[in-house]
Amino acid sequence: MGVTGIDHVGIAVESLNEAIPFYRDRLGLEYIGTEEVPDQKVRVAMFAAGESRIELLEPTSPDSPIAAALEKRGPGIHHIAYSVDDVRSKVGSLVGMGVRMIDREPREGAGGAMIAFIHPSDSGRVLTELCQHTHSDKDS
Ligand code: CO
Repeated sequence: MGVTGIDHVGIAVESLNEAIPFYRDRLGLEYIGTEEVPDQKVRVAMFAAGESRIELLEPTSPDSPIAAALEKRGPGIHHIAYSVDDVRSKVGSLVGMGVRMIDREPREGAGGAMIAFIHPSDSGRVLTELCQHTHSDKDS
């Protein structure tokens, strides 16, 4: 039920095509791939940074949460995701402590991970994601 590390940092960008070269070619992070997550109306580009990852998020629709974040604050750090070994029990434990969740039920995020967001009103305005990897997505 513990937190085992920082899984990734999510960064909102206007354009993956414009943002990818900095992370891949200049910073030299390993580019894992790009996928669409229709549920969140985003396209996601993933990079490996040692044990952690960088997740670039581009909105695919004006009503995407990422479009709203870009409009409000511009491009930049959007959320921090912690690795947990059991996201369902972690959510249950937080709810038991009275912590407000955006997701009381874990849902599928990028790479097939199961994720849940804590409501920023209860995490000092830092949008915080819990992320549990399944076996299949760790291999990819
Ligand atoms: Co994320």
